Amino acid sequence: MKTRIDEIRKDFRKSLSDAGSQIELDEVYRIFLARKGEIASLYKLMAGLSAEERPEAGKLLNQLKKELEQQFNDRRKTARQQVSELDTTIPGRIPRLGHEHPLTQTESRVEEIFTRMGFTVAEGPEVESEYYDFDALNTPFWHPARDKSDTLYLDNGHLLRTETSPVQIHVMEKRKPPIRIIAPGRVYRNDKPDASHSPMFMQVEGLYIDRQVTFAELKGTLLEFYRQLFGEDTSIRFRPHYFPFTEPSAEVDVTCFLCAGKGCRVCKQTGWLEMGGSGMVDPVVLDGVGLDPEEYTGFAFGLGLERIAMLQYGITDIRLLYENNLRLLTQF
Ligand code: DAH
Repeated sequence: MKTRIDEIRKDFRKSLSDAGSQIELDEVYRIFLARKGEIASLYKLMAGLSAEERPEAGKLLNQLKKELEQQFNDRRKTARQQVSELDTTIPGRIPRLGHEHPLTQTESRVEEIFTRMGFTVAEGPEVESEYYDFDALNTPFWHPARDKSDTLYLDNGHLLRTETSPVQIHVMEKRKPPIRIIAPGRVYRNDKPDASHSPMFMQVEGLYIDRQVTFAELKGTLLEFYRQLFGEDTSIRFRPHYFPFTEPSAEVDVTCFLCAGKGCRVCKQTGWLEMGGSGMVDPVVLDGVGLDPEEYTGFAFGLGLERIAMLQYGITDIRLLYENNLRLLTQF
């Protein structure tokens, strides 16, 4: 009996110190102290002892029971204290959510505005032939934009598109008017990177072809677009320009939304911000894709996406949009 008591005492201490949770503590109680536990079974063994042995064994057993109960209760108390030290008011760990790149946010916003005006989003390849990037867009063979110093040619005779305008040609080849698309995408030029130049940047092309599309609609569409983008007080102005694929052509300026047209550092005191090119699609271009210029007219425009993003987010160096610097990107 005495050795059995010593064994149980040892086992109990070990189990108690190993118990790391409430469930494990309950289990210790069940094994040693519960109604069918080890101690209860020792009491049963007493029946088999002789009358001389019994008092001594009973004393030892009572002692053991008291001791284990005491230790168990102490242990349970400290476990409770540990639990109540758990401060449930401390906020949990919040996983950091990623978000869209500022340029992607601007692209989404532009798409949203034009989509609501009835435009759909089209895409075209970034590797183009000279036909789509230049010839079909009425760009003469001697035009300086075709020069190696401006355009990135590939070994296979193709090139990296210098503008999103070739998407106009792809779309007009495939669909019948009315056509109303925008085409955002990357374009490439042989430029040295600096604060306002990047060899790769983004444009959004726009094209609307139907019967009797007028220059007034071009103006109205772009005015509405810029008002939604920069605010209701925005005005636009058209400056006569030249593009091979539009006639007439115009560059589009928007009143500087930072100074409301009064003149500031960003608009170089002019009150106007240059936003992109536009015009009425040249009949030669329509003819080239098999559309009768007597029947159809249309307008087109091309905007720089970085320009919009930089103005909206106050970024002054275009390279920052391509460096993937998280300290910058997490700010937007
Ligand atoms: N593709 C021209 C450029 O990259 C921009 C442009 C001007 C696009 C006039 C147009 C347009 O669609 O009508 O400079």
